[in-house]
Amino acid sequence: MKEITNCSLLRYNTFGFDVKARCMMEYDSEEDLQRVLERVRTAYAGCPVLHIGGGSNLLFRTDFDGVVLHSAIRGITCDSLTSDTVRLRVGAGVVWDELVAYCVEHHYCGLENLSLIPGEVGASAVQNIGAYGAEAKDFISGVEAVELATGEKRFFSTADCRYAYRQSVFKQELRGRYAVTYVWFDLSTAFVPNLDYGGIRRELEAEGIATEHLRPADVRRVVMNIRRSKLPDPAQTGNAGSFFMNPVVEKSVYEEWIRRYPDMPHYEVDTEHVKVPAGWMIDRCGWKGRSLGRAAVHDKQALVLVNRGGASGAEVLALSDAIRASVREKFGIDIRPEVNIIG
Ligand code: EPU
Repeated sequence: MKEITNCSLLRYNTFGFDVKARCMMEYDSEEDLQRVLERVRTAYAGCPVLHIGGGSNLLFRTDFDGVVLHSAIRGITCDSLTSDTVRLRVGAGVVWDELVAYCVEHHYCGLENLSLIPGEVGASAVQNIGAYGAEAKDFISGVEAVELATGEKRFFSTADCRYAYRQSVFKQELRGRYAVTYVWFDLSTAFVPNLDYGGIRRELEAEGIATEHLRPADVRRVVMNIRRSKLPDPAQTGNAGSFFMNPVVEKSVYEEWIRRYPDMPHYEVDTEHVKVPAGWMIDRCGWKGRSLGRAAVHDKQALVLVNRGGASGAEVLALSDAIRASVREKFGIDIRPEVNIIG
């Protein structure tokens, strides 16, 4: 167990805000987590507790006057389920992209479309991360977690997790109540490429790779190239990926919009709902590349807000509020932040 008081969170949030927590505790096993929880109950009774992952989806408005918990539970163990499926049990503290690289190397297929997403495995199960036509929930077969208040272990089936677009029970009813310790993934050893989204097929064709010779490593490389061309590297420019969620609206609302904006991109969600890219709306409102103080809208993808250097969480939120007001005025909808706002 690691305990640091008055801890800088600079390296624990990809926005690069120089904020502090009253205390930070890190654990590397379930037993260690029990010791941490006991310490929180005795030394920090009544203090707010925040469990973080890689800090890639967090916005600290200000210093956090409470205890920040972080999992360093690592390790990937593998069980064969059938001749063509494997189940992995993965520690919550494993870096997400290291898991994807491991799977691609071992020809365990499915996660390759989710390459290069920042963050850790525990948060992937809370956030239901997604990109390029895949979501973590498509592969998660269970989540092991510990209740912070009691230390009790609980296993969540995929159904218990109540997954939806960027949502889970851990972000809703059980928000802040559990620490994810291990996530189970069911993957296939037979490769069925998922190429229909976001220009993957086009890029592969440009590289001249025939579909029958395609390997998960090819999809991973192409996804990494597309992401690098659109999204800022948090090691260089502070950001938290998509700042807003894409709004899901009723078809009648979408039909009204498409009459006014015939080039509006959209994705069918079900027979009654359509998802519209918030990035396109923000772009249409003229925000792409614009700054407000030391916060800015990324010049290649308007869904991403960046810290131009030295910005505070409050500055980024002021930019977010201004963008939301523009989108509300032009499209009549309130787009919601995807990042978790703390404080
Ligand atoms: N678009 C614009 N202008 C922009 C941004 C987007 O016109 O500034 C248009 C694009 O041309 C495209 C559409 O909007 O037609 C969608 O854009 P993109 O494919 O870049 O995806 P997105 O919907 O903006 C989502 C995820 C990303 C993920 C990509 C690719 C959310 C909130 N975001 O973005 O996830 O990488 O799809 O699958 O669903 C993240 O969550 O941090 C993240 C980066």
